This record gives sequence, structure tokens and C-alpha cells, in this order.
Amino acid sequence: MPQNSSFCVLRTFLWPLSSLLVFSSYSSRPLLLHRRKMASHVVGYPRMGPKRELKFALESFWDGKSSAADLQKVSQDLRCSIWKQMSDAGVKYIPSNTFSYYDQVLDATAMLGAVPQRYGWSGGEIGFDTYFSMARGNASVPAMEMTKWFDTNYHYIVPELAPDTKFTYASHKAVSEYKEAKALGIDTVPVLIGPVTYLLLSKPAKGVEKAFPLLSLLGNVLPVYKEVIAELKAAGASWVQFDEPTLVMDLDAHQLEAFTKAYSELESSFSGLNVLIETYFADVPSEAYKTITSLNGISGFGFDLVRGTKTLDLIKSSGFPIGKYLFAGVVDGRNIWANDLAASLNTLNDLEAVVGKDKLVVSTSCSLMHTAVDLVNETKLDAEIKSWLAFAAQKVVEVNALAKALAGHKDEAFFSANAAAQASRKSSPRVTNQEVQKAAAALKGSDHRRATDVSARLDAQQKKLNLPILPTTTIGSFPQTMDLRRVRREYKANKISEEEYVNAIKEEINKVVKLQEELDIDVLVHGEPERNDMVEYFGEQLSGFAFTVNGWVQSYGSRCVKPPIIYGDVSRPRPMTVFWSSMAQSMTSHPMKGMLTGPVTILNWSFVRNDQPRFETCYQIALAIKKEVEDLEAAGIQVIQIDEAALREGLPLRKSEQAFYLDWAVHSFRITNCGVKDTTQIHTHMCYSNFNDIIHSIIDMDADVITIENSRSDEKLLSVFREGVKYGAGIGPGVYDIHSPRIPSTEEIADRINKMLAVLESKILWVNPDCGLKTRKYTEVKPALTNMVSAAKLLREQLASAK
Ligand SMILES: *[C@@H]1O[C@H](CO)[C@@H](O)[C@H](O)[C@H]1NC(C)=O
Ligand SMILES: *[C@@H]1O[C@H](CO)[C@@H](O)[C@H](O)[C@H]1NC(C)=O
Ligand SMILES: *[C@@H]1O[C@H](CO)[C@@H](O)[C@H](O)[C@H]1NC(C)=O
Repeated sequence: MPQNSSFCVLRTFLWPLSSLLVFSSYSSRPLLLHRRKMASHVVGYPRMGPKRELKFALESFWDGKSSAADLQKVSQDLRCSIWKQMSDAGVKYIPSNTFSYYDQVLDATAMLGAVPQRYGWSGGEIGFDTYFSMARGNASVPAMEMTKWFDTNYHYIVPELAPDTKFTYASHKAVSEYKEAKALGIDTVPVLIGPVTYLLLSKPAKGVEKAFPLLSLLGNVLPVYKEVIAELKAAGASWVQFDEPTLVMDLDAHQLEAFTKAYSELESSFSGLNVLIETYFADVPSEAYKTITSLNGISGFGFDLVRGTKTLDLIKSSGFPIGKYLFAGVVDGRNIWANDLAASLNTLNDLEAVVGKDKLVVSTSCSLMHTAVDLVNETKLDAEIKSWLAFAAQKVVEVNALAKALAGHKDEAFFSANAAAQASRKSSPRVTNQEVQKAAAALKGSDHRRATDVSARLDAQQKKLNLPILPTTTIGSFPQTMDLRRVRREYKANKISEEEYVNAIKEEINKVVKLQEELDIDVLVHGEPERNDMVEYFGEQLSGFAFTVNGWVQSYGSRCVKPPIIYGDVSRPRPMTVFWSSMAQSMTSHPMKGMLTGPVTILNWSFVRNDQPRFETCYQIALAIKKEVEDLEAAGIQVIQIDEAALREGLPLRKSEQAFYLDWAVHSFRITNCGVKDTTQIHTHMCYSNFNDIIHSIIDMDADVITIENSRSDEKLLSVFREGVKYGAGIGPGVYDIHSPRIPSTEEIADRINKMLAVLESKILWVNPDCGLKTRKYTEVKPALTNMVSAAKLLREQLASAK
């Protein structure tokens, strides 16, 4: 990465002076007293900035509206302020190289010079051109693939490796960041993605034999790691952190051996350096624990003790290597709740008894990049709720307060304020709703199934709905125009009256209904013009949810999401969608689908309570949605779609936990609609097609019709059914990809339907696009849907004449 450190150098002169004057946001002590560094560590920190400064700088640079120097300046400013903030808080082990212009795994790819051939890189330090081409692609070359980072909502760029990939040291970013901080007077711990995790997260490059073992490249990447380590040592680094989160996965003996091999080979270059192996996101299985704690040359091990409570037991029962440091991740990096400091201090005291004094370091459970940045300016949050929360900036202070307490310098005022907040959260009537608790508790022991089986229900529904064979529908949303967004914004800001708002939305719904009638679609939607987001829209109307102004979390590159916070028992004070759905139904004689977001998806796209199990919160949401389903039915809506876009996304990392999750997730879905009449048709929509492994759970959801995103591969999806899975409900695999502006022809769509008919019975097949149309333009949607309906009609004729 190109770097320019003039800004930071300038700040070096200002900083010591200003720190005498600034007061920490938590306690009112001058920072000078914090100068003695306690044993505290932060695994990583959000990069975006409190107001998403990096996002805007990146996008402006990509649009050609600002220069590389502008981008570097904003980035440097962010890094400096983060380091300074941690240093001011008194953190001893401050991470560097956790900043990234796009993604930390892509940074590792750049460091190793593992640039896929199509980017035409010919050596030398990797600059913005090559880096952003890999991340985003451009008009002539596609981007590298992106996938989820473990079970977070962060997405990393997947390295593409081949047996002949040449690894060379091609990005000195880790060293430049270390030096940049050092110039500020801050000695940091450079963070590198560990070599084994890097390889395990890679995929074979296109065209390479699938069976090619990625770990066979270990010997080739280690020399680059050695160069980086040597350079970091020369620059003065005394610690290096290797992130090896794959250690929490289900690894086999061969994969575990790779850790031994890698770190034994690096051992000689570690002399004079302290090395930390950091893990996160779950407990470390005992075999993996044994493997890494037996390594020589490693000074410390970091564990996630929030999600990995079993690791805690392991440390206590199996012991911990003598003389090594334990980095105890007790402050949750995945959520927004204030730490229960008293409870953490107890845990830390227990651990100190095992590892010995001076060997225990207080840490975060993982990088703080998975939580929101700073609570300080969330002025719209209710004060009581705010007192229960801690974002990244507040978590840094918590880590240090715990370290100080452990060292015998407990900040009593800080601890008692925290204890008061914990107590208020436990007893607050905002959190507990007895009625909801009772209703959720009563769910236990029954599996909430509709009384009639699906084929009989489909017959009853068909009698009422009288749909043609291969019925057509869409997934829910129609294009959202600038005008529409303006209307919603103005209504929210009280700039237009409720009446004006309702009229504007009504007009839009009418337009969408008329269009679908013209297109001759069979089951209509109202188009969702009143909704901003499929979770926020419901969260805003349910009790138990709070919303932030700037609680952004990076999802990938410059993209961030702002999850709602579920803080209390969830209930539905009044109907949420009935008004609009019945209005839409009154405009047409076709069936109008009611559109709801399912409980698992609402849960998964929010920050969730940590004071009760996830499934309990999910059941509460399910009960709220159930009421809505029943009100829609009572209002005459005969088809109701309950989206579970995130069902698969929520699968736990470890296989041993997946069955339990699927059980309550599927149960939650069934709770929402177990009470409807046979004649009411329940649809659901899924945003993925590779569910071979969970198909039995999908069937167990017992929906009448499932529509599926299927843009990339009909084959993958259809193979499930070809393999003899018994499936009797309706199914609508998307017949065209809405993510592309391309307009599919009638023939092309007919061809895809034909392929599906070869595997699925005609009486269960639906014809629909693969996702909502919100992000498309009407000029794309009209011709595409016209062709979709013609294709369905063409096939109907063919099926009729074949009889
Ligand atoms: C796309 O990226 C490649 C690789 O960095 C570069 O060689 C090419 O010039 C870029 N093309 C365009 C149109 O920007
Ligand atoms: C939903 O939960 C899963 C598992 O915890 C996670 O991987 C996924 O990113 C979550 N989705 C969102 C939008 O947070
Ligand atoms: C909070 O708001 C104040 C006043 O507008 C501003 O000076 C400060 O930079 C903000 N802090 C963060 C972290 O956003």
C-alpha cells in the first residue's frame, strides 16, 4: 500500500500536550494517570470511522472525485485517532495493521503477492490499481470472490491459489503501519492473518484441479512471513499477533498438523520477539488447544471467552503452559452490550489463579470491527437503554478498567456505575413483558404444525384461488424511485401530513397493481413502497427494538449495515401491514400476497439480547408475526409470504451445533402460521440455492410454496430434487436473475422452466424472478416480466397440447 506519514508525524507534536487536557469519557480522571499501561489488549478495531469517514473517502476515490492522496489522508487520520484513543485509554497491547482499505484477507494476499494472473500484476509493491481491481473488478476484469468471514456478517475476499502460485513479499503495509504508529510514540502489536488460516480460507484458482490441497502451499508462504517478521523486528516490534481463527472450526488431524509445521518452521525467526496466536468466534476444541499450547516459541494465546465458554473450562481443567501469556477475551466484540464487569473480574481472578500473576492479559473476544464504533453521539437513544450499551470505543475503556482492577487499581466509580446499569437492565420494565414471557414459555413441548398435510392444503387452496398451471408471481418489492424515498423521508421528518403520505403511497400501490394486471401476473404484490428495509420496517413497529443513528458495522468493502438493537421482550402492539395489504387487495380481483419478514431473519439481522438464549427471542418474534399473519387472514388476504432470507445464514460454525439451531429456527417459522386455515396459502422466500445440506429442514418448515433465489445455478438446486428428495409443496426457483440489468428473452426463460419441469412436477412449479425488484428500474422490470409471463403461457400451451 502506498503510505504517507506526514500527517501522523505532525500529530506527534500535538498529542502529548493535548492528552494532558483531555478527560476520558468514562471516568473524570485526567488521562495522565492512565499512563501506566495495564495488561490490556484489543484484538482489532473498526476501520470505517465513527461517521463512516472511510466509506465516503473510498467511494469518492472510486468515483474519481478525489485523489489517492485524499484517501490516504483520511485513512491516516482514522488510524491515528484510533491508536491515540487506545493509548489514552491506557491499553498496553494496541493492534496495528487492522486498518484496511478493503479487507484484511485481501491485504494478506497483497502481502504474499498472490495476485491472480488476470490482474496483469508484474511485481513490485502492490498499489491501489491492482488492489482495488482484485477487490471490485473493473470493466475488463471481474473481482475476486467474496464470502462470509466465519459466522459474522463481514465478507472477505477469497484468495485464489494454484500449485504454481508464486509468493513474494509485495505489500509492506504491516511494517508501514507499525512505523506510522511508532512515529506517534505508540508501540503497537502488528496483526497478521496466520499462514494456516490464510490457506484454509483460500480456494483453488479457476481451472485448477479441485483436489489440489491448499495446505501443500504452506512451505511456499512461510518464507514471505519470515521476511515480514524480520522487517517488523528491525522496525522495533516486540510483539506480533497471528490471527488463526480457523482453530475454532472442526479441523482434522492433518489440518492441525499444519499449525505445528508452520509455527515450528517460523520459530527461528521469532527469537527476540513475542508471538501471540489469537483465536475467536467460538471455543477451541480440545485437540486444537493441545496442538497450539504445545508449540514452542509462542509467548501467548488469545481466546474468545464470550462465545467460547468451553475454552474457559479447558483452561481450568487441562491447565495452561507455564510462563505463557493468556489473552482472555472477556469483552464481547460481536455485540453492543456493556460488559458485566463484576462477572468478568471474577472470571479473570479464576484465570489468574491458573496462569499466574503478570501472565494474564485482559482482551476483547475478537476484533471490535463486528460491533458499532462509538456510542458517544447516539443522542436519540433513550438514556436508560444507552446506559446498557458499549460500542467499540466504550469497550476499549472496559478492557482497560478490568486490567486495572486486576492489578489492584479498581476504579470503584466506574465499576459501580456499570453495576447500576446491569441492575437496571435486569429489572427494567422496558425489558420484561410478563405476558410475552408467558406466551413464549407456553410454546415449549409442541411443534406447532398445521393440522392438514401440504398436498391436501394445496388442493383446498387451488379450489379457492383457481390459479392456472405454472402460476406467475413476483417476490415482493417493485422499483423504489427517488420520489418514493423522498416521500418517506419527508413524512418521517413531519414535512408532509399523514394524509399526503397515505395518498402518495396509495397512488404508488395502485400503479404497481395496474401494471401487474396489464402484465397478466397471477398472484400480485403491493410493491412495498412504504418500506425502507425488510427488518427495520418491522422493528420500528414492534416493541423491544431500538435504533441508532450511527451504529454502522462494516459488511464488506465500503458497505456497512446498521442493525436494530433488540433490548426487550418483543411484542406487536398493533397490526403492521394490514392497512396497506387490504388497501392493495381492494384494488384488484387477483389474489394479493401479504408480505412479512420471518422471525429468524429479523433476529439474525439485529443485535440480539445476551440475557436470554437466541431461540427465546426468536420465539417471541415468531409470536408477534403470528398475530400479524392472523390479522392479514382475517382481513381477507389469502396468500401470505413470510420471508426467511437469513435461515441458512444463521447456521452455527460447528456441525455439532447445527441441528439444534435448525430445529428452533424451523419451529419459529411454523409458529408464525400454524394457526391459519387450510385455504390460506403460506409462501416463503430464500435468498440462496445451495441448501442440499439443509433441504430436510426446508421441507420441515411446511410452507405451501417456496420461492428461491436461483440466479447462478439451476443445476445446484435441481440436483437436490433429482437425488430423490420427496417434495410435495409448491416451488418457484427464480427464472431470471434480478441482480443484473440484462433483460432475459422469452425463449431463455422458457428454456429454464423446461429444465425445471424435467425434475419437478408441473403442478407444483411456480414462475417468478429470483428476488425482489427494489433495486431495478421500471425500464428493466417491465420487459423482463412481460417475457416471464409469455414464457409461462408458452409452456402452459405446450403442456396442454402434450396431454
Ligand atoms: C482493470 O484492472 C486491470 C488490472 O488491474 C488493469 O490492467 C486494467 O487496465 C483495468 N481496466 C480498466 C478498464 O480500468
Ligand atoms: C446472521 O447470523 C449469522 C450467524 O451468526 C451471520 O453469519 C450472518 O452474517 C448474520 N447476518 C447478518 C446480516 O448479520
Ligand atoms: C461527537 O460529536 C461532537 C460534536 O458534534 C464531535 O465533535 C465529535 O467528533 C463526535 N464524536 C464522534 C466519535 O463522533
